[in-house]
Amino acid sequence: MSADLVVSRARADEAPIIANLMQFYIHDFSELWFDREVEGELGPDGRFSDYPLLETYWSDPSREPWLFRLGGLPVGFALVNDVAHSETPVDRAVAEFFVVRKHRRRGVGQAAAHALFGTAWGVWEAAVVRRNIGALAFWRTAAASYPGVRDIVEEDHRDGLWDGAVLRFRVG
Ligand SMILES: CC(C)(COP(=O)(O)OP(=O)(O)OC[C@H]1O[C@@H](n2cnc3c(N)ncnc32)[C@H](O)[C@@H]1OP(=O)(O)O)[C@@H](O)C(=O)NCCC(=O)NCCS
Repeated sequence: MSADLVVSRARADEAPIIANLMQFYIHDFSELWFDREVEGELGPDGRFSDYPLLETYWSDPSREPWLFRLGGLPVGFALVNDVAHSETPVDRAVAEFFVVRKHRRRGVGQAAAHALFGTAWGVWEAAVVRRNIGALAFWRTAAASYPGVRDIVEEDHRDGLWDGAVLRFRVG
C-alpha cells in the first residue's frame, strides 16, 4: 500500500467531496438492491438521492466524516458514529466506508480502517448487509490484523435492526 495515504477528518467545506463519493458508493450498493422497487434507482437527473442527514456529520459531535486521499486526491471516505446495529451499545460504529474501485485490493481500505481505529479506544462495530460478502471478508481481515484489537465477536442478525453480520471488537 502506498505510504502516502492520508486519512483526515473532513472539514465542512469538504462535504461536497463526500457527497460526490457517496454517488459511487450508492452505485456499488445498487447492485445488491436488484430486487428492490425504489432503492438503487437513479433520479430523473441521473443522480442517486442525497444521503440522508449527511450534514449532521458536521453538526453532531458524535458523528465523524473522514476522507481518504492518495497523492492528494480523494480515494474514499468513512462516516463514523455511535449507532449500534444490535442491542449491544458501542462506542464507535462504521456507518459507511468506501474505497474507489481503481484503488481496491491494494490495502487502502485496511490502512484507512486502521487509521480510524487509532482515533478512539473502546468498542467498535462494523455492520455488513447480508449480500455484501466482500465487505464482510474485508472487515474480518481489517479487525483481526489491527494490533490493538481484541474480543472480536461476529453475530448474524436478521431482525428489525439489521439483516446481516455485526462485527464488534475492542480497540485499545
Ligand atoms: C470493502 C472495501 C472498502 C474494501 O476496500 P479495499 O481497499 O479494496 O480493501 P483492502 O485492499 O484493504 O483489503 C484488505 C483485505 O480484505 C479482504 N477483502 C477486501 N475486499 C474483498 C473482497 N471484495 N472480497 C473478499 N475479500 C476482500 C482481503 O483479505 C484483502 O486482502 P487481499 O487483497 O490481500 O486479499 C471496498 O471494496 C469498497 O469500498 N466496497 C464498496 C463499499 C462497501 O461495501 N463498503 C463496506 C460497507 S460495510
